[in-house]
Amino acid sequence: MSYTYQVQTAADYEAAYAHATENPEAFWAEIAATFRWKKPWKTVLNWEFRSPSVRWFDGGTLNMTENALDRHVEAHPDRVALLWEPNDPGEATVSWTYKDLLERVEAYCHVLVARGIQKGDRVCIYMGMIPELAVAVLACARIGAVHSVIFGGFSAESIADRVLDAQASAIITCDGAFRGAKTIPLKSVVDQALSSCPEVHTVVVHQRTREQVDMMEGRDVWYHEALPVDLKPFPAVEMEAEDLLFILYTSGSTGKPKGVVHTCGGYMVWATYTFVNVFQYQPGQIHFCTADIGWITGHSYIVYGPLCAGATTLLFEGIPTYPDCGRFWQITEKHHVDILYTAPTAIRSLMAAGPEFPDAYPMSSLKVLGTVGEPINAEAWHWYDQHVGKGRIPIVDTWWQTETGGIMISNLAGVTEAKPTYATRPLPGIQPLLVDEHGAEIHGNGVSGNLCMRYPWPGMIRTTYGDHDRCRQAYFSTYPGLYFTGDGCIRDEEGLYRITGRVDDVLNVSGHRIGTAEVENAINMHPQVVESAIVGYPHDIKGQGIYAYVILHSPEKEDLRVEILAEVVKHIGAIAKPDKIQFVPGLPKTRSGKIMRRILRKIAEGELQQLGDTTTLLDPAVVQAIISGRASE
Ligand code: WT7
Repeated sequence: MSYTYQVQTAADYEAAYAHATENPEAFWAEIAATFRWKKPWKTVLNWEFRSPSVRWFDGGTLNMTENALDRHVEAHPDRVALLWEPNDPGEATVSWTYKDLLERVEAYCHVLVARGIQKGDRVCIYMGMIPELAVAVLACARIGAVHSVIFGGFSAESIADRVLDAQASAIITCDGAFRGAKTIPLKSVVDQALSSCPEVHTVVVHQRTREQVDMMEGRDVWYHEALPVDLKPFPAVEMEAEDLLFILYTSGSTGKPKGVVHTCGGYMVWATYTFVNVFQYQPGQIHFCTADIGWITGHSYIVYGPLCAGATTLLFEGIPTYPDCGRFWQITEKHHVDILYTAPTAIRSLMAAGPEFPDAYPMSSLKVLGTVGEPINAEAWHWYDQHVGKGRIPIVDTWWQTETGGIMISNLAGVTEAKPTYATRPLPGIQPLLVDEHGAEIHGNGVSGNLCMRYPWPGMIRTTYGDHDRCRQAYFSTYPGLYFTGDGCIRDEEGLYRITGRVDDVLNVSGHRIGTAEVENAINMHPQVVESAIVGYPHDIKGQGIYAYVILHSPEKEDLRVEILAEVVKHIGAIAKPDKIQFVPGLPKTRSGKIMRRILRKIAEGELQQLGDTTTLLDPAVVQAIISGRASE
């Protein structure tokens, strides 16, 4: 397979960028034509950003898995498609060729259809990082079922919210998962969730930890018992380009998580195009993305992008610090990894463990390093460069979002220049702009503003599942006619972009998006809590920590911190637990009752001299009370 669309030089990048901007339809038609379609499209793009309505490759039909699997089985059946590294380094690795993987996906399709799951049905997946997770995702895509993967750290209540919102009829899970020294029960959490989801008729259960689980007759099946004995092909179901491929829930500034919808044709083209160009993938290379498939990074850069490109993708079950802080580097060495893609939070925590861990491994196979999920600070960037890359390979800092489907702003490895802490340049087809709070465009260089997009790209969000107006409101209403990312951004003197972080009430904790409103709602469920306010503060490892201000009914009573944390774990999951809880007598509010988070943020950051104007507050005295309470924390 050749990647005619892979840019090789900075001049190629300039040319591709100009072509994609001047004639986007011709640009994307040429790239899409390198994929396998069942029927060709009639129109490349129809769009408007008011509703919004965005349709790519309308009239075209395809199945993603023919692109991710079948065409590689024809071209190079024995190339390894998937490598799996278990949690415990003593356990055997899995290595499946493209032929093996296709056979497993086809067998899985038979299991799903035998349970009555059909094209268009929604299937939730709540599993650990075992190879069957990738197989399950691809099997859904092959039968045309819409998958919605739920990260294994979410609580039963979060699962139920997602299952109900997606109106899912089936769940795929495991008995449990291994993560470092811990075993996480998954099936029992699913059982709890399903007590409020009567529409789920099937639970497929994989055996991993072999712990005792309850199986509900008629509803639950063991995967190994449901698997057909003979290998039978399963023809890929024909999908419209704009049929749903998956839903992935993500937090916003208001309400419950939204189901971000991605569709088959455009997402395929975008995930693959960005993979091949940003990482400068070369045929046969081994790609190790350390994310969990429960997040968009895993969807686009463990499963779909690398497999559509024909790469070998490496799936790791465990965590970076088990059995020691050299685990990523040991895996890189052992599997001769070419491309390593991880998050700044992981780099910072491994940096804290000391350089002797990466220094013990030459990692001479590495060609490219990548980072994603949050702004990377200069210190972490240089440590990654020196100790992991040994100062000899490019680092790509990739900015994107669940909603964008794939990488949007990034240097291209070894092709366009890197600048520490800068994502640098938009990919071809991406037209970013900065606006002020009134939506007026900020022109020129050496400026900062809110980051928006003025033109559609193939991998962009199409809707929020079940509530299209929520999609409009969240992304297309703040600045009419533009897609608003929610991020603040600097464009330097040379026109390079540096993303500075969220400008809305969304936190980025260890690269995970946490909605402040969601955490507040969880805390407010505690009967002793009157009200709460959540803000972020700088955290050395996590990027942002979660700071909770809580008003109690009877503050003199016992310390409720433990119970409040338990409340958050119950309603959301351990990833949303506040790092600090301060009990306060009141919250700074405007006369109209709005919480002044700006002030709370400053107090959490310890910047007590810069609280700004507090005269518009209903009760300015409350600020002093919070500050003096803080000192005793
Ligand atoms: C938010 C999206 C994209 C997959 C992982 C997170 C922040 C992401 C970067 C980066 C600075 C970044 C942004 C964005 N972000 N990558 N390279 N530099 N910030 O996906 O959960 O949808 O979160 O993560 O704030 O809006 P997500």
